[in-house]
Amino acid sequence: MKVLFDEQTIKDRVSELGKQISGDLEKSGISELMVLGILKGSFIFMADLVRKMDVPFIDCQFLGVSSYGDATESSGEVKLTHDLSHPVRGNHVLIVEDIADTGLTLSFIQNLLTTRGAASVRTATFLSKPQKLHNDCRLDYVGFEVGNDFVVGYGLDAAGNYRQLPFVAVLPH
Ligand code: IMP
Ligand code: MG
Repeated sequence: MKVLFDEQTIKDRVSELGKQISGDLEKSGISELMVLGILKGSFIFMADLVRKMDVPFIDCQFLGVSSYGDATESSGEVKLTHDLSHPVRGNHVLIVEDIADTGLTLSFIQNLLTTRGAASVRTATFLSKPQKLHNDCRLDYVGFEVGNDFVVGYGLDAAGNYRQLPFVAVLPH
């Protein structure tokens, strides 16, 4: 497999992001944050990111969505497969996503949280594929930009496989 980002490179970048996010929140006077991971792809990034954030109170929550099934191209339709167990109203939320491809998943969740009365909504995505990104999806924090290859590892899967890889690699055809 062709490795795009190795373990150390990822570690350094996630530390930077954690510092940057914490600093921005402090400037905005936010000391309580709901970190909302999008299952399943974000679980490794989220686990590393929250440990690099310096925010007094962090409530970790998860939301399950599916747009790909087992395919490597978006179906164009986002399905909620696991809803929040906690009300969002009045909370400052940081959505954590593995990768923004078309941006459909992120804009769907941004809209959902805004409709439910979140006090503020920010996004942190580990990877972004800028070539296909929709305009209506706002990305606040991006780990790395990638091309249009299908990538796996560090939480990202191909039909459920490879999430456990500590690096990010291009899926061979
Ligand atoms: P979007 O809604 O088109 O932005 O797609 C986002 C979702 O598609 C992500 O949460 C991933 O689960 C999945 N995805 C998109 N591109 C890739 C990839 O290259 N590797 C693995 N999953 C991907
Ligand atoms: Mg996926």
